[in-house]
Amino acid sequence: MNRRTVLTRIVQAFSLTGFAFLTYPFIRAFVPSFEEDLSLEIDLSGLSVNHSKTISWLGRNLYIVRRSDKVSNRLFQESEQLKDPASRDSVQPDFARNPWRSKHPDIFVVFKNCTHLGCEVAAQTSATSSGFSCPCHNSQFDSSGRVEKDSVASFNLEVPDYEYVSRDVIRLIKTS
Ligand code: FES
Repeated sequence: MNRRTVLTRIVQAFSLTGFAFLTYPFIRAFVPSFEEDLSLEIDLSGLSVNHSKTISWLGRNLYIVRRSDKVSNRLFQESEQLKDPASRDSVQPDFARNPWRSKHPDIFVVFKNCTHLGCEVAAQTSATSSGFSCPCHNSQFDSSGRVEKDSVASFNLEVPDYEYVSRDVIRLIKTS
């Protein structure tokens, strides 16, 4: 191999390496198998009835609430005070189009951001009633995050997509 051939091979090698570095981000963005797994598994076994826990996920905070049977059953009776009792205009997965806005009546998963201007709502949980209230302009939401009629917020709280890995473990799923 003469000197000219060696130099050509070296230049080719550098060119190929540079091309690989330049194209990797584009390939990574467009090939689904290269996407990061952004799901998050959460163990609910330590979450007692009438209690909530906060989870941070994808830069936002969520509440996970374990509702009592009494609170779950009351969700059928509160529709007159609500702006959108059937959650027709809500951001939520299809499985949440029910009075509990959840897969199982006891576990409720919801983003904390108020649908008015995004302040984080505070959960109120007790044995007989529960819900969420916004500290900024006092919008009130019932225990499935449905906004009350006299609130300044227009929409129900956002429910993320998730699935059950087991009865006490859920996996949050990024859908968009
Ligand atoms: Fe919640 Fe205004 S931000 S009521």
